[in-house]
Formats: sequence, structure tokens, C-alpha cells
Amino acid sequence: MDALVNFTNQSQGRDRIFRASQYACALSIYLLRNNTERKDLVAKLKGLETNMSAGRKLLRLGNTANSIEAAKRTMQLSDRVLCLCLTAANVNRALYFICDNVLWAKSVGLIRSIDKERWSFNASRFYFYSLVMNLTRDVYVVLKLMVQRARDKHFREKMDQSLNQCPEVAVVIIPQVDAFVFLLLETLKSHPAVALDTVKNICDLFIPFDRLGIYKSNAGVVGFCGLISSLIGILTLAKPTLRIKP
Ligand SMILES: *[C@@H]1O[C@H](CO)[C@@H](O)[C@H](O)[C@H]1NC(C)=O
Repeated sequence: MDALVNFTNQSQGRDRIFRASQYACALSIYLLRNNTERKDLVAKLKGLETNMSAGRKLLRLGNTANSIEAAKRTMQLSDRVLCLCLTAANVNRALYFICDNVLWAKSVGLIRSIDKERWSFNASRFYFYSLVMNLTRDVYVVLKLMVQRARDKHFREKMDQSLNQCPEVAVVIIPQVDAFVFLLLETLKSHPAVALDTVKNICDLFIPFDRLGIYKSNAGVVGFCGLISSLIGILTLAKPTLRIKP
């Protein structure tokens, strides 16, 4: 079990590079869709995208075990909200990978008698739940940091100063909203790991949104958001200080 978990941790980097390429292909296909001279290139990109997606499914075979291990760890967190959000996120992620593995088995012909559409829909649903729990965690962490900041005396002085510098704005906009936005931006600026994780999760949301029919965007938006989130994923893997903890 440990060896399996270790291996999939290493293959995470590879998966993220494949994921970035997959969404870069999707975005390019969207941008080139009306260009008649580039039909060949679009066909090649489509083939590449399909292969990337299939290759990633194979690399993800051990991820269910990995998510269950992660859920066991997050269950021990002392902060109740973090414990609940992250455990729920990891359990849903494990369920997502189970659906994903079944779909892989179907695609290579290991099993036949499953309803591909239904499994694919369920995969997107579990992925969506996992993201929502991750985003709830982000909101909770941001609010907690904001409260900490607001209590900080030095910070209060700095905030008063900068809000007084632009009296017109302060009169027009309700001062509380102004102060809230200022506090939010300052908090995100001083905690880049939290900011990056939030942006990544918001970008990721567009993928299941589209598949579940909650919000129909277009292939360009999905490709773009997927690419941004994959690049953030690569960045946080390369620079662990930019990775949100726990
Ligand atoms: C939710 O967050 C965990 C921990 O940061 C991460 O491993 C997981 O991939 C995230 N889930 C999704 C669907 O991105």
C-alpha cells in the first residue's frame, strides 16, 4: 500500500504536465476552430488531446488508495471545519477515481456491461463535490486570516491611512465594503498559497459545471481555466512553499 501511495505521489508531476498539455490542446482547438487552413493541425491536436486524456487515466489507477490515505490523515486534524471539509473532499475524490478507473477499464475493453454515460456523469459529480469542499476550506481559511489581520493593531493603522488617502472613494462606496475588500486583498497578498489554491479551485469548477450542465460555458473557457489550474498545479508542486497546508 505504502509503495503504491509513494509511486502515485511521484507520478503527480507527470500527470500535471499531461493535464496542462491536454487543456492547452483543448484551448488551441477552440481558438483554431474557424481557421480552414489549419484543419490538419486541429485534427492532430484532437488526437493528441484524446491520447493525453487516455494516458492520464492509466497514470491515475493508484489514486483511489492515495485519496483514502489522505482522508485518513485529514480525519485527524484538530480544527473541526478543516477536518470536515478536507475529509469530505478526499472521500469524494476517492469516489471520483473509482468511477474514473471503471471508465478506463471500459475504454480498454476489460469490462463491457456498464453505462458509460452514467459513470461519467457520476465521476463529474464526485469531482464537483470534492471541489466545493476544497473551496469551502479556502473561504474558511481566508475568513480566519482576515479576522486575525483585523485584530492586528499595526494593520488597522495602515488600513485607516490608506482609506483616508482617497476620501472621494470612501464617501461613494460604503466604507465597510471598502475596508472588507482592502482586508481581503491584503490577506491574499500576504498568503499566496491560499490565494493560489482559491484561484485553482475556482478555475477547476468550470470543468464539472460544463459537464453537469449547471453552467454551460464554451470549450474555450473550459480549456483556458483547465490550463491555468494545471499551471498553478505545476507551480505548487515545484515550489512547495506555495502549497496550501494542511
Ligand atoms: C482538494 O484538495 C486536496 C488537498 O489540497 C487535493 O489533494 C485535491 O486534489 C483537491 N480536489 C480537487 C478535486 O481538486
